[in-house]
Amino acid sequence: MTIGTPPAAFVPDLAGLRRNAAATLLRNWRGSATVPTGALYPHQWSWDSAFIAIGLAHLSPRRAFAELTALHGAQWGDGRVPQIVFNPAVPEDAYFPGPPFWRPLPRQGPAAGVSTTGLVQPPVHATAVLAVAERHPGDATDAAVRQLYPRLARFHDYLFSRRRVASGLVGIVHPWESGLDNSPFWDEPLGAAGADLASADLADDITGLRRDLRHADAGHRPTDEDYGRYMGIVAAYRDRGYADDDLLSLPFCTVDPLFCALLAWSEHSLAELARRTGADPGRHTERAQELAYQLHTRLFDPALGCYVALDARTGRPLRKRTVSGLVPLLLPGLPSGRRSALVATLTGPAFGLGSRDVRGVPSYDLTAPDADLHRYWRGPTWMNTNWLLWTALRRQGETRHAERLASDMVRLVADAGFREYFHPVTGEGLGADHFSWTAALLLDVLAREPGGQRWQR
Ligand code: SER
Repeated sequence: MTIGTPPAAFVPDLAGLRRNAAATLLRNWRGSATVPTGALYPHQWSWDSAFIAIGLAHLSPRRAFAELTALHGAQWGDGRVPQIVFNPAVPEDAYFPGPPFWRPLPRQGPAAGVSTTGLVQPPVHATAVLAVAERHPGDATDAAVRQLYPRLARFHDYLFSRRRVASGLVGIVHPWESGLDNSPFWDEPLGAAGADLASADLADDITGLRRDLRHADAGHRPTDEDYGRYMGIVAAYRDRGYADDDLLSLPFCTVDPLFCALLAWSEHSLAELARRTGADPGRHTERAQELAYQLHTRLFDPALGCYVALDARTGRPLRKRTVSGLVPLLLPGLPSGRRSALVATLTGPAFGLGSRDVRGVPSYDLTAPDADLHRYWRGPTWMNTNWLLWTALRRQGETRHAERLASDMVRLVADAGFREYFHPVTGEGLGADHFSWTAALLLDVLAREPGGQRWQR
């Protein structure tokens, strides 16, 4: 495929894509949950499971609920839902950093015998549960919602009570918690943290310790320098027992627009789930509105035309155009002019939605001098952030842009397979293959955009 190939006469085999998506999810099922992909990520990841459940809703609601029930079975006593739940059947050194690195887990950690990391990931789970529930009304769904609602609410309670920083915004304490590990947002705070971290011994051997480089091209992954800092930051959090007192004294503490937007969106979903279980929806709606207000007033950068992150330790805005800064488009009740500003950024030269030379929405500003179109979250197009923006465009009534984005997503997978991410200009498949959320979210797109003629341009 060459740069600039127009998406003409594109007639995908939709039935074949659906079949292969289902086969990918089946291949990655491990009895109670789905791995993101076999070798590179051999355990259960938190936000992956939420996206996977959204796809499983089209195959088996029972399995979709099982996926999220398994994840919440590892919930900590303090309410946090961990970023990774380790599978005890997988050798401890198959993934780095594996279970030994995260120990000891504190008393307020998971149930005895359950092994997890001590971080969280973006809270999209309540939205996933609601998506499955809406598609499959009935007694079995009501029972699953009654069982999951209190756990989802406890996770949000944890985030709102223990992770509040910077006047009501909710913070993250590690780039892994953003889900976009090596996003350019984190370069500045990581640089500052690197100077303080006593991780030199570890960093010396980081290449030997990393397992990801055995399964994916080093040029597609975060650098060793990034990894050294990731390890140092997590070690500092672990060594204080994953305690959230005095968050600003941690080496890394930031506010991320994607994380906050997904939390506010999921609070709205939680309000609906509360209604269905007879609980009080009011506190969820209030929290959603309060957080959205802070997000809209403090994180929008009019000159960049998108939301930015904040270094909570210094108060400095992290002024980059990343895909995370577009995700607040999901929220209801945007301030006036905000929708058109975000759509202008999305369709302008930085992200190129609708342009012949760009495939899907890239993870970072294509015009930035440090964009790296092969490297993880520094340029490639990912299916989950594209699904979020496609959902946002549909919710905002931007049907034409939503259809174009759906078409790009289908075309990327039809051409390159169920890859972890894609080159945003050539469409080349990057990272791992047989990637679960790519398959799951494609199933959702195909189910909601059934018009075959839309794929043909
Ligand atoms: N994304 C990280 C990894 O690559 C951890 O969540 O392992």
